[in-house]
Amino acid sequence: MKVRVTETYEDMSDAALALIMDQIRIKPDAVLGLAAGSTPLLLYKKMGEAARDKTIDFSRIRTFNLDEYIGLAPDNPQSYHYFMKKQLFDALGLPPEHTMMPDGMADDIAAECARYGAMIEAAGGIDLLVLGIGSNTHIGFNEPGPAFVPETHVVELSDATRQANSRFFKSVDDTPRWAVSMGIRDIMFAKNILLLASGAGKTEALWKAVCGDITPMAPASILQLHRNVLVLADKAAAARLQRNESEAD
Ligand code: GLP
Repeated sequence: MKVRVTETYEDMSDAALALIMDQIRIKPDAVLGLAAGSTPLLLYKKMGEAARDKTIDFSRIRTFNLDEYIGLAPDNPQSYHYFMKKQLFDALGLPPEHTMMPDGMADDIAAECARYGAMIEAAGGIDLLVLGIGSNTHIGFNEPGPAFVPETHVVELSDATRQANSRFFKSVDDTPRWAVSMGIRDIMFAKNILLLASGAGKTEALWKAVCGDITPMAPASILQLHRNVLVLADKAAAARLQRNESEAD
């Protein structure tokens, strides 16, 4: 894993934007994998500005999001569909058929998981996957557990994740218990992975991802086995890595 530490969250977001633009310059119809959550917010804002200023043409990219809550309709402001549309897709002017997300409202959720995984494969896989990391080391909604789940699947969210994500809901009780997430194979088959981490709340999780044992109890640790992972972290998130610099390479 390569680790690049930036001074600030803004520097991290600028570096991520540069890498995404490089990818699109190499392949204008690149397939991007995208995360919801607070970490990529500034990156998405900057992508919107790059589209507005015509710095780069996003019109041919296709995107696959990592996950979605079960039971939230796309027009629910707490859904990831809504989040992505407001934070990125509208600004990029991408048509809905270019922006794939798991359907958390599907009647047959098992069939939806199979459909979503097959769509990623049919698109030729993901060229560049932008990941965040949960403070419990989850990636997408792959939660710590006894085994890695390879394919797109239904997840029962951990108490820690519901607690963390309750900031977007009225209360923890109001926070969905179930989600659909890309699986670890879907993630590991991405050609390039960019893992973003910002803030002191991610310091321990990032250390486990980069320096800890590879274990399903710390899902992000599997990324140590991927050929092309770049961790972009601000100083606060990387604080423990910098104390263990020799281990971070
Ligand atoms: C969320 C999402 C992840 C995201 C992670 C970190 O629950 N399912 O895709 O990367 O947790 O979120 P944040 O960036 O808000 O800290």
